[in-house]
Formats: sequence, C-alpha cells, structure tokens
Amino acid sequence: MNQNSLVSISDIGRDEILRLLEMARRFEENPNRDTLAGKVVATLFFEPSTRTRLSFETAVNRLGGRVIGFSDAGTTSSSKGETLKDTIKMVSNYADLIIMRHYLEGAARYASEVTETPVINAGDGANQHPSQTMLDLYSIYKTQGTLENLTITMVGDLKYGRTVHSLLMAMRYFNPTFRFVACDELAMPREYMDFCDKNGIRYSVHRDFSPEVINTSDIIYMTRVQRERFTDIMEYERVKDLYSLNNAMLADSRDNLRILHPLPRVNEIAQDVDDNPKAYYFEQARNGLYARQALICRALGIEA
Ligand code: CP
Repeated sequence: MNQNSLVSISDIGRDEILRLLEMARRFEENPNRDTLAGKVVATLFFEPSTRTRLSFETAVNRLGGRVIGFSDAGTTSSSKGETLKDTIKMVSNYADLIIMRHYLEGAARYASEVTETPVINAGDGANQHPSQTMLDLYSIYKTQGTLENLTITMVGDLKYGRTVHSLLMAMRYFNPTFRFVACDELAMPREYMDFCDKNGIRYSVHRDFSPEVINTSDIIYMTRVQRERFTDIMEYERVKDLYSLNNAMLADSRDNLRILHPLPRVNEIAQDVDDNPKAYYFEQARNGLYARQALICRALGIEA
C-alpha cells in the first residue's frame, strides 16, 4: 500500500487537513500550472458521477497531466468477469495515480492494498467520500472564516450519505456542534454517534427540520435520499420527500448561514433557494477543483 493513498478521511490528521486547505487556496489563485507534466492519472468510475470525476479530470488537465480511465465499467473487462484486484494491478502498469469510485464499501481500501500506486477514494458505497470532505471543509472555511466552533445541521439521508460520514469525522478537530435531522429509516448510523461520543463532539438528533434548528445553524448540509442504495423501493418512496428546504424557511436564519449540498439534488432544495445569497452549493462544487488539485499533488508527493 502506498502511504500517500487517501481511502478514508481519517487517513489524514488536523495539520494535514490545514496544509491541504492552504494548498487549495493557492490553487484557486492559480489553477493552471505544469505541475503534473509527464504524469498519467487513471479515473476508474464503477458508479455514476458528474462533479467528482469531471473536477478530478479538470484538476489533472489544468496541472498539465494526462487522464486515462472509464466512467462506465460496462465497457471494461470487469464486465467479462475480471476481478477488481486484476483491474487495479493492470491500471497500475499504466498510471501514476488511481482515482476510484466504487459501489461497494471497502473497495477503495482493498484497491489500495493490492497496489503500490497511490489510490484516492472517490466514494465507496455508503462509506466514505474523503475528497468531497476536503472541498466541504474548504467551502466551510471560505464562507465562515474558520472551521472552529460551528453549528452544522445535516439533513436527509444520514444513513447512506457517505459525504456526511466523512465530514463528521474530519470536523472532530474543530469543536463542532452537529444536528442530525432525519427520519428513523435514514438516521445517522450508531457507529458515527459513537464516534461523536468518543471524540467529545456535541450532537442532537431531530425528526423535524424546525425553524429553531434552521435559525441557529451556521451551516445546513442538505443531502439527497439516494434511491440507488435502497433494496426496498417502497421504503424509498415513503421517505424520499420528507425533508425539503425552500427560500421562505430561511427568512430568520443567521446572516452567516450557508447552505451546502454535495449534489446532485433532486427536490430537497427548492429552486427558489438558488438565488438566495446563502445558497453556496454551486460554488462548493467549484471549490472541488482546487481541493482535488491539492489532493492529487499530495498523492503524488508533489509540493505545490
Ligand atoms: N458530490 C458528488 O460526489 O457528486 P457526483 O456523484 O456527481 O460525483
């Protein structure tokens, strides 16, 4: 396993997170460089993606590297039965870095263990999405001026939402207060609440997305109910529309409140929120370019 792999957000500590955020800031000032000249980066997406794949690939292109890979595993030899291990070993022959999204939890860890090429986890099932977390942290820092002592309300699919799992773990260094707003079927898993208890993180659990919760939040982190994670489609239909944010609900919110969402959204944020200055999800996605430029350089051991 390559020590520069990033499989879980817990692979990096507080100082490394801050160093990467500073690197992202410098990339935002100047995203076009020759830093990756001569490097080949493989993007292996076994699950659909718009932002993660395109921002990683843009990051490589803007740094002068080359990209190989696939966005549809059905066009690869995995559809003929090739194992993930063999696929990773093959790609390691060609690329300096592997960026992989997979539908199975643990797939990124497994991939990192069968190669000496660094691996960045671009999302593994309902488990982790550490590069999303870096752009979320960068977005929070840019909008709040700090990562410390913030009240963060996570809403929607907290069970399968890998972005909220990674973000919760990363925030442990910054004394957050969390509110978890979800129905029973999509509640934050026990292991993450245990993580909060173990790390002295304050949290409260809510079924209602109430004015009291909204008006005392610094960050509201909305999530999509992920149809693709449900084995029982009737259960999905029952819970898919339970939490939705509209502009009127923000009337008495804090001035510094920002609405984040990893995207894609379905209908959990009404279109009328988009023009509210507190809506930050499109800028958040743009921040992914700079955060991922920093992560790519870290994985390749390049100072930038
Ligand atoms: N936020 C995120 O992971 O988006 P994509 O699924 O489009 O990559």
